[in-house]
Amino acid sequence: MELARRFIRFIIHSMGENAPEGIRIISVPHHLAHAASAYYFSSFNNAVVLTVDGTGEFEATAVWRVKNSEFEKVASIPTVYGSLGALYENICVKIGYDNLEGPGKVMGLAPYGKAGKYYEKLKSFVRFDDKDYPFRFDVPGKWMIKNTFSYYSKPYYFIADSVYPGGKVPWSPRGDLHPDAVDLAWAVQSLTEEVMLHLARWAREHTGEDKLGLAGGVALNAKANMFIHYSKTFNDMFIFPAANDAGGPIGAAAWVYEHALGGKMRRERLRTVYLGPEYSDEEVKKVVERGGWDAKYVGDDVNPVVDLVVKGHVVAWYQGRAELGPRALGNRSIITDPRRRDMWGVVNRIKGREWWGPLAPSLLEEDADKYFTDPVPHQFMILMFKYRDDMCEVVPAVCHVDQTARPQTVSRDENKTWYELIKAFKDITGEGIILNTSFNLAGEPLVETPIDAIKSFALGGFKAIYLQGWLIQK
Ligand SMILES: [Fe+2]
Repeated sequence: MELARRFIRFIIHSMGENAPEGIRIISVPHHLAHAASAYYFSSFNNAVVLTVDGTGEFEATAVWRVKNSEFEKVASIPTVYGSLGALYENICVKIGYDNLEGPGKVMGLAPYGKAGKYYEKLKSFVRFDDKDYPFRFDVPGKWMIKNTFSYYSKPYYFIADSVYPGGKVPWSPRGDLHPDAVDLAWAVQSLTEEVMLHLARWAREHTGEDKLGLAGGVALNAKANMFIHYSKTFNDMFIFPAANDAGGPIGAAAWVYEHALGGKMRRERLRTVYLGPEYSDEEVKKVVERGGWDAKYVGDDVNPVVDLVVKGHVVAWYQGRAELGPRALGNRSIITDPRRRDMWGVVNRIKGREWWGPLAPSLLEEDADKYFTDPVPHQFMILMFKYRDDMCEVVPAVCHVDQTARPQTVSRDENKTWYELIKAFKDITGEGIILNTSFNLAGEPLVETPIDAIKSFALGGFKAIYLQGWLIQK
């Protein structure tokens, strides 16, 4: 504990602040922190929460019944038996990706594949409702419950190597699709969907609760979340937008606030994640002027931006506070016309992404029914929906090969300028939907400062940038 205290003092000092005396340390278990992130920001009083992860301490998956802020763990699956996260990562390695960037890519690759021998083999390792667990992986040998990475990942390495023996799939993800790569992706994605749906139904039956909270790294799997949504197992569902470990500290803080400090969290649904740094108009102006750009101040008038988009240009878009979590939601975005099929390839090339990776739309919340089957308002792009028939023809650049998308629904209250932009696009084209992807170039993180934005704009294949009121064109 003294070491932890010293570390916290170090962090506070490194930010140039004075560390207070008598720092109290309250440890919050990994899965409880995830569960708290999904519960406290959902608006639910009573709910079931699934925390589905790679690992946290010795657990990979947990089911929680939460009543008026009291968390009861109904099921817990140790990492050696039930890590969907570790399984997904190990299959990603076979496909040629690393643990971190792999799962997001492989989810997009999966719809190009089909059921076959890899799926059958993978599925042979799963047992549903086995002994104490809602599901578990059954790998030969005896497995102790330990929390060291090298130990808990062994069963998943074994499974991945049994499904695809030897090395990795011999392909280049930037070249033609390889049948083994797409079928392996299909296998692990389908199994994840089945297990998540089973877990959701198990939780509903065993707790009687009709509202669901979701967190943990596997809850970023927007396609698996879609199947839970369409199954109507629950009446309402909330997925914490920073479902991975980026959101753990927020959940831990909320839990400590109520359980150790005597506070009371407001029971409200989190609707925006514009919680990161922002830069004043004065700072932005300096950056624009220093670069000697031919810039025009347009303020909140988004019409000149929309004119460029409608003409088929790719525009970088930057304003306000950075988004928490992995998705760009209208403050650090790249935008273009989703009606133009070729924009899919153009944007992927600008970002240095694989040609087959899907791109997502942002749309007016009130128009969600026009495009999608049975949608609900969803601001965070971690829940997919199926397009209505023929809609993929209307917006082909944001429709994946399985006729799904991971959209952001946008309301005026949540992000005024962003809403106005999409509305202005609709006024001209009749479609209240635009292509929105994160503003970063190949191998780089999302831009954060105005300087980051200008640099990426200068280097990338953009026609223009909207930089907090300034429009700069190349
Ligand atoms: Fe986690």
